[in-house]
Amino acid sequence: MSLLLVERLTRSFGGVRAVQDLSFAIPEGGIHSIIGPNGAGKTTLFNMISGVLRPTRGTIRFRGENIAGLPPERLAARGISRTFQNLQIFFNMSVLENVLLGGHLGLDRNVWRALFRLPRLRAAERRARAEAEALLERVGLAEWSDAPADSLPYGALKRLEIARALAARPELLLLDEPAAGCNEKETREIETLLKSLVADGMTIVLVEHDMRLVMNVSDHIIVLDHGRMLAEGRAEEVRENPAVIEAYLGQAAVAGGHAP
Ligand SMILES: Nc1ncnc2c1ncn2[C@@H]1O[C@H](COP(=O)(O)OP(=O)(O)O)[C@@H](O)[C@H]1O
Ligand SMILES: [Mg+2]
Repeated sequence: MSLLLVERLTRSFGGVRAVQDLSFAIPEGGIHSIIGPNGAGKTTLFNMISGVLRPTRGTIRFRGENIAGLPPERLAARGISRTFQNLQIFFNMSVLENVLLGGHLGLDRNVWRALFRLPRLRAAERRARAEAEALLERVGLAEWSDAPADSLPYGALKRLEIARALAARPELLLLDEPAAGCNEKETREIETLLKSLVADGMTIVLVEHDMRLVMNVSDHIIVLDHGRMLAEGRAEEVRENPAVIEAYLGQAAVAGGHAP
């Protein structure tokens, strides 16, 4: 069974069909990228899978169950977690506290802080902290644990965002442009992290404009154009597909650079 099965998915905004009758399957494990020119419907698709937007029509099955229209916190409880392109970091809290919040989606941060003061929750707090520390170690931020989030450089914030998403213990991780705004070194750090997550069995759906990163990490690429699937396949197949080159990639991307 596919981990994620999208069938005849459509989302309209007034007269604009951002996603049109789109169907595809994501098997368990690996990195599955969604690429396409601006306006192709990538963000709309991503928002529907992560519960931010309701589909106009169609189904989204996760482990066989239709999850279309469920809110993000219900999806998180089922094992779907996401990051946001414009970071969802609480800058007035510590790095560790930001990760702790990710494990408790749906709880207001003040509620979560108050809960921590109850004695019977101290053991739970210790466990949660140990888990959050392990996640920070995982993303290479262990030494920043107690630092205020606003003291982190940009590339580190992108990894903190991933650690926060991991705190919900997802089976499916949706990453919205994890390398956007990152320099070369930061992008390579993200690449290493994504590969290590997949090596541990994670399934990742990636929306990303950095074509070198996409080509380096993807097991499977879906190319969208005008809300429909233009092509699908392994990185080498997609890279050599004439329709994809014409619609999107261009010569620079074929040579390993950025798409426009
Ligand atoms: N909230 C919205 N209201 C109206 N139109 C929208 C909205 N979101 C997206 N669209 C339109 O849907 C199409 C796809 O947009 P989007 O999903 O953001 O594409 P991409 O992420 O691939 O650049 C575009 O024509 C865009 O203008
Ligand atoms: Mg977009």
